[in-house]
Amino acid sequence: MTTLSVASNQSPTGLDIHAIRQDFPILAQQVNGKPLVYLDNGASAQKPVAVLDAMERYYREMHSNVHRGAHTLGDRATVAFEGARETVRAFLNAASTRQIIWTRGTTEAINLVANGLAPRLRAGDEILVSRMEHHANIVPWQMLAERTGAKVVPFGITPEGELDLESFDQLLGERTRILAVTHVSNALGTVNPIRELVAKAKAAGVITVVDGAQAVPHYQPDVQALDCDFYAFSSHKLFGPTGIGVLYGKEDLLNEMPPWQGGGEMIERVSFERTTWNVLPYKFEAGTPAIAEAVGLGAAIDYLSSLDRPALEAAEADLLTRANQLVETVPGMSVIGTARNKVPVISFKIEGLHPSDIGTLLDQQGIAIRTGHHCAMPLMDFYGVPGTARASFAFYNTQDEVDQLFTALQKIQRLFA
Ligand SMILES: Cc1ncc(COP(=O)(O)O)c(C=O)c1O
Repeated sequence: MTTLSVASNQSPTGLDIHAIRQDFPILAQQVNGKPLVYLDNGASAQKPVAVLDAMERYYREMHSNVHRGAHTLGDRATVAFEGARETVRAFLNAASTRQIIWTRGTTEAINLVANGLAPRLRAGDEILVSRMEHHANIVPWQMLAERTGAKVVPFGITPEGELDLESFDQLLGERTRILAVTHVSNALGTVNPIRELVAKAKAAGVITVVDGAQAVPHYQPDVQALDCDFYAFSSHKLFGPTGIGVLYGKEDLLNEMPPWQGGGEMIERVSFERTTWNVLPYKFEAGTPAIAEAVGLGAAIDYLSSLDRPALEAAEADLLTRANQLVETVPGMSVIGTARNKVPVISFKIEGLHPSDIGTLLDQQGIAIRTGHHCAMPLMDFYGVPGTARASFAFYNTQDEVDQLFTALQKIQRLFA
């Protein structure tokens, strides 16, 4: 059996990962009698105490409905809620909070855009998407196509799991109206050249929608530099609470788009003769919003800003390097998605083992990974696999945990493959 050299809890970048892990109480527990090794961060990341405290404080000290202006608690809640919007604006480097719309997550954000762009589409128009998209960036476009007679056109990827830019250039055509593409692939970890794609699409007069769900936990995007028309992400993957996400949009397009849900908050005036819409961003925020969740997301971003982000990125890159080095210690193991530019994600298969069995056997060792199609069935079809096993790392993971994963995989391979 190949042995692994012992790695330490101290990141080679000098970050004190041990201290950072203290901020995430959930990590310090046993699962199935073993210390938890949480490597399912791509599905949902864990929450620091700063987020838990901010949400509890909100409920203990300031909860009320927002934007009613009737009393002190209402004012406090509104200040906290709109303060979180400003935190998100700064995080994305958006020009204005009018461009920051709360949604339930990336999925709802993309559905909102797809709905809002419907009046622009005609039969025969094309929506260009990549073959590595999450279903959340495919199905809303298929539903829009169904409604309008437009067509969803997939462009290719290379066997390594990078976007095939030749295929993109060929398919970006006269009929293309929308480009919807992921910043980072959830199933492969590939970081896509979004700036280049957006520039080409814009030159062709095409509206650009970027799915940032897997990018924001690793990078801070600058929407003005990217120059995309829309950018969507989910709080729960960014160390914030579930139930809230963000749609950033260019103001001219947001103003042009019809609201997609009607009700309180999104109106200016209602009468049976004529109802008019509220200004941005409220036009797209019908009903009582997820107030505590917005506050929690703001706290997650503040927490991240308090850390040395370049050092976190370097630590994550080291985790990926170590994982890649150890692949050959597991006979029959191969990685799907070997792009040059990746976040710390490895999707893999092991000859003779079903991915879901790998997941179950790892869980028995306290190691949490994800198995299956990762909501990217067209991508799985491209690779001719029903699914993969995926370990996705966050900055709070240690080199030691990478080693534990591979020691467990060696054992599983030896006993069951
Ligand atoms: C790339 C990508 N897009 C969209 C989504 C959907 O995010 P949510 O379920 O938070 O709406 C995910 C979730 O895994 C994702 O990884």
